[in-house]
Amino acid sequence: MKKLIIANWKCNPTTKQEALRLFSALNSALHTNKKADVVVCVPFVYLGIKKELSFKLGAQDCFWEKKGAFTSQISTVMLKNIGVKYVLCGHSETRRFGETNEMVNKKVKAILGEGLVPVMCVGENIEQKKKGQAFSVIEKQLKEGLKKIPKSQIKKVVVAYEPIWAISPYGPCSPDEALTVALFLRKVIGRIASKNLSKTIKILYGGSVNAKNAKDYVASDFLSGMLVGRASLNPKEFAKIVKSSV
Ligand code: PGA
Repeated sequence: MKKLIIANWKCNPTTKQEALRLFSALNSALHTNKKADVVVCVPFVYLGIKKELSFKLGAQDCFWEKKGAFTSQISTVMLKNIGVKYVLCGHSETRRFGETNEMVNKKVKAILGEGLVPVMCVGENIEQKKKGQAFSVIEKQLKEGLKKIPKSQIKKVVVAYEPIWAISPYGPCSPDEALTVALFLRKVIGRIASKNLSKTIKILYGGSVNAKNAKDYVASDFLSGMLVGRASLNPKEFAKIVKSSV
């Protein structure tokens, strides 16, 4: 199965010129890539600025209502309309500003409702890890994020394990530890959905992935790819990550 490599530009870059330059550099660096599926999640303002990309476009967040009096919000209908295919939700950097599991669940449903792919992030912080609560925290995030979603839809969800303590400038989490959590997530999915789904659902690792360590995270079939932040802002390094992941 092809690996899925998702870039997350976060709140970067600061100018449209720089975003266009990054898009072009990534386009040339990735135009020969046929082996991995590549998605680039950019700030909302850069989503429509460049056509004919050699990768899919993703958004970093969304709102669950389709339209209406919701100042500042961007709906999944709008995202679909401008060609977005993937949408992140539940990233620790949005959870930090008050996004709850319940909100993540509404977003996952709205994303699926438009036929887009939700990339639902889960991950514990350092205090939770030190207290031995990592598994219970991510199990709760996973179960509540997927609450009341039918199996036929759960299979379209991508789950990204992003331990907060491993995200740049900290991290990384060892490949063995990432794999252990991926297996745990698959076990939970087996319980809430089905055994078959626990084998086929895509589970990514994210947190300080770079060109040197990338291959170690995708060596196993139980990890389906990676979510890459900082290193995705360097087109050459990101292209190396994509290459090393196949
Ligand atoms: P990082 O970010 O690769 O810069 O650690 C990953 C993420 O937060 O998605």
